[in-house]
Amino acid sequence: MCGIVGVLGNHEAAPILVEALKRLEYRGYDSAGIATINDGHLDRRRAVGKLVNLSDLLVHDPLPGKAGIGHTRWATHGAPTVCNAHPHQAGPVAVVHNGIIENFRELRAELSEKGFSFQTETDTETVALLTQYHMSQGAAPVEAARQTLARLHGAFALVFLFDGQDDLLIAARKGSPLAIGHGDGEMFVGSDAIALAPMTDRVTYLNEGDWAVITRNSVEIRDANNELANREMRTIQIDSARVDKGGHKHFMAKEIAEQPRVIGEAVRHYLSGDGNSVTLPGDGLDFTKIDRLTMVACGTAFFACLTAKYWFEQLARLPVEVDIASEFRYREPPIPGGTVALFVSQSGETADTLAALRYCEGKADKIISVVNVPESSIARESDLALPILAGTEIGVASTKAFTCQLTVLLMLALKAAEQRGTITPERQADLLSALRALPSSLNTALEQNSAIARAAHKLAEAKDVLFLGRGLMYPMALEGALKLKEISYIHAEAYASGELKHGPIALIDKIMPVVVLAPRDTLFDKTVSNMQEVLARGGKVMLITDDAGAAEAAGEAWQTIVMPHVDPVLTPILYAVPAQLLAYHTAVAKGTDVDQPRNLAKSVTVE
Ligand code: F6R
Repeated sequence: MCGIVGVLGNHEAAPILVEALKRLEYRGYDSAGIATINDGHLDRRRAVGKLVNLSDLLVHDPLPGKAGIGHTRWATHGAPTVCNAHPHQAGPVAVVHNGIIENFRELRAELSEKGFSFQTETDTETVALLTQYHMSQGAAPVEAARQTLARLHGAFALVFLFDGQDDLLIAARKGSPLAIGHGDGEMFVGSDAIALAPMTDRVTYLNEGDWAVITRNSVEIRDANNELANREMRTIQIDSARVDKGGHKHFMAKEIAEQPRVIGEAVRHYLSGDGNSVTLPGDGLDFTKIDRLTMVACGTAFFACLTAKYWFEQLARLPVEVDIASEFRYREPPIPGGTVALFVSQSGETADTLAALRYCEGKADKIISVVNVPESSIARESDLALPILAGTEIGVASTKAFTCQLTVLLMLALKAAEQRGTITPERQADLLSALRALPSSLNTALEQNSAIARAAHKLAEAKDVLFLGRGLMYPMALEGALKLKEISYIHAEAYASGELKHGPIALIDKIMPVVVLAPRDTLFDKTVSNMQEVLARGGKVMLITDDAGAAEAAGEAWQTIVMPHVDPVLTPILYAVPAQLLAYHTAVAKGTDVDQPRNLAKSVTVE
């Protein structure tokens, strides 16, 4: 995680670095720092907490210089203190780093024996000290960096800046993404192209193991074998305007409200011209030749996969396995012929998901990804990348990306069902028409905002919350619990309703709220029976249902939230909205940092 940036410019570097870091703050906000070549010499400014603290520091203590590096940190090794903040400097070199140096203990021991002492608890400092050591042995900066890089194990991206070198940056990528931006007589480096967007749209992505020697007028890229490498320069299309809150109090609120529009766009994108079928980009996929689907993701994206399992199995009769990426990659599961591997990721950079994808390369028949960032590593390394078209998502808690993932996955399941002949044309037409009408149902769901805010006010008093759901509502219960805990810090757990009496029912008392997600579908009566078991033990039930469900079961509920009726297949996309709003308003009532909750980062590029 951590965001890194480098500039060899013709103007003052500090404002450019801070602006780029603003765009990278989604990667971490434990501390931030910049270093420049100020009057020929390395100089740094660092501050704990959000980027605004660094900006404030720079007002009082400016940092001149036209060449510089910057960093926004998500702490891995060492507490978020000024001392542990990047850039790390050792004598003539300063370094910013994203990722983990796995052999840093061994390197530390080696450096200690050579008489070096450590000022920080970070793994990054070993990189700076090792480079300093090589320079003390007579190596010039480029050679010192090369020798250092050859010693490092792990997944990382690094940028080096050297004392007295106003026209030199060295950038290296092993595991964590890094992009070089080409200006006119200027050069930039960033963790992603979004950070570079205000400066340039001409970008070269470093490949695995690449390292680059960069000056204002040249870039020399070498691969892991130290051979000169030719990497394509692309012109990318990224909105360079900083995304604003559009009148909302938080990005999360704005992103929740955007769902009818972005989902409408995703549906239109994948609908055939006549509106009767689903079209996929490129050569698409032949689902008649597929025996099984293996879906892999992390966090909220994993819950999107869990939901899609129901769709692929029920609509397309296609067996699906769903796995958490961090478990999948180390379990090394067999991938039999006829398997398509599908990876879901908003950022397209999640380290575990990317590693799982690489594990499937050469084993699965095809690799598909469902991503929000088309330029991301996961998209670029897939045979077929399906964009979810959610637009930039800034709030750390995923909202519109989740529902857009669901929309695209449902449309993919419909394509599979059509090709495999497991859906009648009438049923397919019904579902496509329900998808077209979904934005309007989502707008109706959003009208419950005030009612949900009132319910959330009561939820904010809870210490623990249980979420229950059955069938398609089970993954939604998991997602509701995740949303609540990540932004309100209330402990929340989710269970399949049928599991209640196998243990969690022991938790039921008069204090802990139980959120029951239950549209009036074929499983409604079963879920309501479980709800009755909670009520019979004095439990407090918050019921999220539709009109028909409320008419039957709202009587004894502590709170009821009513959604519009939609085809049962589409309920996960719709019921995500009250789950998101409930978490959002609970967090607001508790006064937590909604968009940047503690300890989290938007893009998880370390294991
Ligand atoms: C939760 C959330 C995370 C992400 C997870 C995967 O609200 O956003 O659980 O879903 O870190 O991230 P991506 O989708 O970028 O791979």
